[in-house]
Amino acid sequence: MSRWAGLLSTAAKVNLLLLVVSAVFSWSSLSDRVPEFALTKIEESDIKDDSGKEAVAEDDADPEDLEVFYPTHQWQTLRPGQAVPAGSHVRLNLQTGDREVKLPDSENGKSDTRKERRRKRLGKVDVDSTSFTSQELKKALAKMKESEKAERKAHEEEVRKKFRPIEQLKEEFEKLNVKMETDYEIMVKLISKFNSSASTLDEKVAALYDLEYYVHQVDNAKDFLSMGGLQLVIHGLNSSEATLKEHSAFVLGAALSSNPKVQIEAIEGGALQKLLVILATEQPLAVKKKALFALSSMLRHFPYAQQQFLKLGGLQVLRSLFRQKGMETLHVRVVTLLYDLIMEKMLLEDSQHGDHLEEKIQQYQQVKLVPAVVEQDWCVVVSNLLAMPEHDSREKVLKMVGVLMAFCRERYRGDQALSTTLSLLRSEYEELAAEEQREGDKDGYFKELLGSVNTIIQELR
Ligand SMILES: *[C@@H]1O[C@H](CO)[C@@H](O)[C@H](O)[C@H]1NC(C)=O
Ligand SMILES: *[C@@H]1O[C@H](CO)[C@@H](O)[C@H](O)[C@H]1NC(C)=O
Repeated sequence: MSRWAGLLSTAAKVNLLLLVVSAVFSWSSLSDRVPEFALTKIEESDIKDDSGKEAVAEDDADPEDLEVFYPTHQWQTLRPGQAVPAGSHVRLNLQTGDREVKLPDSENGKSDTRKERRRKRLGKVDVDSTSFTSQELKKALAKMKESEKAERKAHEEEVRKKFRPIEQLKEEFEKLNVKMETDYEIMVKLISKFNSSASTLDEKVAALYDLEYYVHQVDNAKDFLSMGGLQLVIHGLNSSEATLKEHSAFVLGAALSSNPKVQIEAIEGGALQKLLVILATEQPLAVKKKALFALSSMLRHFPYAQQQFLKLGGLQVLRSLFRQKGMETLHVRVVTLLYDLIMEKMLLEDSQHGDHLEEKIQQYQQVKLVPAVVEQDWCVVVSNLLAMPEHDSREKVLKMVGVLMAFCRERYRGDQALSTTLSLLRSEYEELAAEEQREGDKDGYFKELLGSVNTIIQELR
């Protein structure tokens, strides 16, 4: 007689096996996604019908964390959190406490008896039957539980590091032995660091750099506003230190992005004028770059700010960037901003007019951007940018020329330089598109660019 049978009554044995089965189910949270999760068997005759209730999974693991493990015909160790395809055989290794999995051996065409089907639904457990005691079994279970916890935690941390930068920042704070703080508390500290006269310039810049991280989140940006942080960075735009100007504009731009509440407060706080002053005066490129970023965030989807921008002569300020030396990298950004603003209005006017849009449409009607663009002769400023070497820049400029065509056609028709540029672009992209097609890309990037060039050439005929 084996020790197994000697130590345990049949009933106790069944209970322990079911404990294993349900433990496997609930710890790995598999039962809800693997309907036929089969465990290999030991003694099917011992599993009674009334004990066959489905093990309930407490699904506390993030479902997205679950990865599928594809078994082979060899036993392989299953890691916690891994799901196996239905029909795989899983067993518990009592030495290690690991679960092991493999593909089922072929069934030799045996027909499924009722009992067989029942067994499959229930799950079968294969335990190395040589020798073990209930004590060993408990130990194995405890081991499983521990390694499960540890590995899940490790996995969660890995996911966080990859996908949750704010969480990561918190971890870094933690490592510095600062207690876990909420975003709110961290922002309070960063703001006071920035505002403190005791802080060095580097410390202030570092505080702004970290703040930029937080204010991306809409709710954090609102808190930032109520803490008085927004007013501080608007004031920072006026700093005599270029790097404080730059980083203040960076934080401002991030807080403004898609955040109407912040947009309203910022324009009332005078941010628009200050940004235009930066763009209109002599400043390092890095400062202007961030100011342009903040200006774009301020203007997008905010027709009131667009009106004010035009009133304050903002378009002329942007135009002046084309006359300043060393600002070339800003040109395409400016054109992209204007393109987006023009399209924003056009798309709204074309959309189905719902009641909630009426007010918005009225606001946009006050924004006379296109007439100002034509009057200031942006037509040629834009088309001149087609001479740039980068495809990506040309792509953006081609889009803008396409939109401006309706208003600039006469101007463009008389432009000999433009027609030469367009011919050159056409031959270049014909060649690149052909090459692209030879490589098997039928709807490639260059074909698209060639299409834009051809459309413009046609419209100028
Ligand atoms: C910044 O500092 C000044 C002077 O110390 C103080 O009056 C003001 O309340 C501070 N602002 C914020 C938002 O902390
Ligand atoms: C901003 O700075 C300029 C001079 O650099 C100054 O004349 C102006 O008053 C300042 N504005 C504010 C609001 O501090």
